[in-house]
Amino acid sequence: MPFFPEQASSFAPHVDALYGFMIAVTAFFSVLIGTLVVVFAIRYHRRSADEVATEVHESGALEIAWTIIPFLIVLVMFYWGAAVYFRITRPPANAIEVYVTGKQWMWKIQHADGHREMNELHVPVGQPVRLTMASEDVIHSFYVPAFRFKRDVVPGRFSTAWFEATRPGRYHLFCAEYCGTRHSGMIGWIYAMTPSDYQAWLSGGIAGETLAAAGAKRFVEHACNTCHGEQKGARGPSLIGIFGKPVRLQGGQVVVVDEAYIRESITNSQAKLVEGYPPIMPTFQGLISEEGLLQLTAYIKSLSPAVAPAAPPAPAPGASAAMERKPTKP
Ligand code: CUA
Repeated sequence: MPFFPEQASSFAPHVDALYGFMIAVTAFFSVLIGTLVVVFAIRYHRRSADEVATEVHESGALEIAWTIIPFLIVLVMFYWGAAVYFRITRPPANAIEVYVTGKQWMWKIQHADGHREMNELHVPVGQPVRLTMASEDVIHSFYVPAFRFKRDVVPGRFSTAWFEATRPGRYHLFCAEYCGTRHSGMIGWIYAMTPSDYQAWLSGGIAGETLAAAGAKRFVEHACNTCHGEQKGARGPSLIGIFGKPVRLQGGQVVVVDEAYIRESITNSQAKLVEGYPPIMPTFQGLISEEGLLQLTAYIKSLSPAVAPAAPPAPAPGASAAMERKPTKP
């Protein structure tokens, strides 16, 4: 059995290199200190019952050295760790959007084009995938060891994270947060596919309506359109083209519209009021399911074309070496 799970995502080598460095440093100092304890115990032990210890004064240079050197080593760990953390927490703009809902005890996955999966997620290799995740009940944690990917899914908010698979294959998906009786059964598979297999998978099966289209229906169902319409003198701010843009709030604060802001504006509508609009929106806390919130968010995002979920990706030229080679001529 291998010591580490296989490396199947773009972060895996970085996470493992940092982890390896920390293990090496820790092992080196454990061996050094353990050895010195034994050597000194033998070398300086009392040789006769009436032996008197000689007085020893500290060495300034030695003390400075054993302070500065470990300090520099932990600084290296800090900078290296921060660099890996930033890489993991910043999804690239061209990522495919996937929506995940965790509930006792299953993972429900919705793709932007309407494909739905249960405890399975199909992704192409060589293409970043961004997950927007919500929980319907308690804290779960979406964990794919081969991708070195783990993110808690917390009730009451969206968790976002991304990965890029680099090697086609089937990888374990776990729930890594104890969430009740059947926690250990909350498992599944990630299928990383070559771009052409992924296209074939996407075109097979019933896609149904897209997530944004489902969101558009809910938008009308909950009568959001009566205030957030495009008519003159609408009672709420327009939602066209807002995603990813800054918006000025009452009190002068400026926030950028992202998934978390949209979610908060639905479930806790008085929290951040847009400047120039009265506080008349009711809260929808508890009235819309997690899936409904994801669909509404996808719909509102789709009103801002620049960031609308990309169409299923075409194999990008010069992408990962793990990608299947295709003839360039038709
Ligand atoms: Cu869900 Cu443990």
